[in-house]
Amino acid sequence: MNINMNDIIVKKRDGGKLTEREIREFVKEYTLGNIPDYQASALLMAIFFRHMDDEETFTLTDAMRASGDNVDLSAIKGIKVDKHSTGGVGDKVTLVAAPIASACGVPVAKMSGRGLGFTGGTIDKLESIPGFRTTLEPAEFFTQVNEAGIALIGQSGHIAPADKKLYALRDVTGTVENLSLIASSIMSKKLAAGSDAILLDVKCGSGAFMKDQKAAEELGEIMCRIGTAAGKKTAACITDMNQPLGRAVGNSLEVIEAIDTLKGEGPADITELSLHLAGIMIYLGGRAKTASAGRSLAEHAVASGAALARLRTLIERQGGDPDVIDDYSLFPQAKFEEKVLAESAGFVAAIDTQLIGAASQHTGAGRATKEDTIDHAAGVTVEKKIGERVTRGQTLAVFRSNDKKKAKAAADMARAAFSITLEKQTAPVLIKSTIGL
Ligand code: URA
Repeated sequence: MNINMNDIIVKKRDGGKLTEREIREFVKEYTLGNIPDYQASALLMAIFFRHMDDEETFTLTDAMRASGDNVDLSAIKGIKVDKHSTGGVGDKVTLVAAPIASACGVPVAKMSGRGLGFTGGTIDKLESIPGFRTTLEPAEFFTQVNEAGIALIGQSGHIAPADKKLYALRDVTGTVENLSLIASSIMSKKLAAGSDAILLDVKCGSGAFMKDQKAAEELGEIMCRIGTAAGKKTAACITDMNQPLGRAVGNSLEVIEAIDTLKGEGPADITELSLHLAGIMIYLGGRAKTASAGRSLAEHAVASGAALARLRTLIERQGGDPDVIDDYSLFPQAKFEEKVLAESAGFVAAIDTQLIGAASQHTGAGRATKEDTIDHAAGVTVEKKIGERVTRGQTLAVFRSNDKKKAKAAADMARAAFSITLEKQTAPVLIKSTIGL
């Protein structure tokens, strides 16, 4: 090993700047298993308190990107735009924005992860469509995008293994919430995924990692700087996560809501955010001169039915039953439901989104460990959102599961999530700012 870990830890502990060689060697040797967790943890904690500057952060990102496979999407024609959300409750926007962008001429070659946490990831959601295959051979994947304009598959191979190892260590050493560490973790994976442009949806609020807007903006800014330095057009939107997005949380429930949105019948927030992000994807993909021109194209793709038709094509090409689009009873159905009722009348003032997410996981909609299986029918329908009026005894949320005990436990857990006041309340602003356009 060409570095002395103790020297590097001391240097960062005292506020020094790590050299490119030190960072690259650290990442390489830690991934190989040559640096013990106690020294890596000490370095992460020193970085947590002393921070990294842009140069160090760019190097860390690139070293983690280079630690595994780099996907080559050059066999796909056109400008490939990746979209990434930092994670929210009820976030099914990819299922809406991707077919819209594709219908507007942006090739969508998306590899998504499975979720650990509140609900599944995009791939788990798609697997609630009977027959849908989320694994395609690379040649089939490229051909499908070139012919049909869209493919959505599970991440295969070995993307940024250094990040996987470091993220797992950060998770148990109190070193997750540092801007350079989060930004390099996310961007190392995005850069390895091979797209030409990247759109980041950075969530902020009670259900997000970043609780306040300023921190979310700083994260968006540094990720845009990393993307730009790596030669990718990168933009970030800071968007609200103080309440679940839309009304559905859970895999098949979210796919149904996404289909509703593509039919022009979705909840206002999902509709707005999907059109906004699709508009930026269309702009980044070179199909519109500005993001607002992209937005107009996105609106037209929904109104004309072209975006819904693109989802139908995606489902057909990947072996799913396209009839689900017209008949939601073909989705897995939950046997049990349990309601949370309002204990007083008034207006919904706040929703503890983290708690709703955790309760949704409890229904069986999400995994606590990698080995858990998902109940695709399970989840929550949030019937009342911030600013809405409620009467005593009215339903605030319905928890669904194929396990009666889980539905009840989840509902019990979520009872404290809703705050109701007598004063009128306004809904939080959905799209707070956009960076990098
Ligand atoms: N998501 C990631 O992939 N990495 C982080 O550090 C935080 C969120």
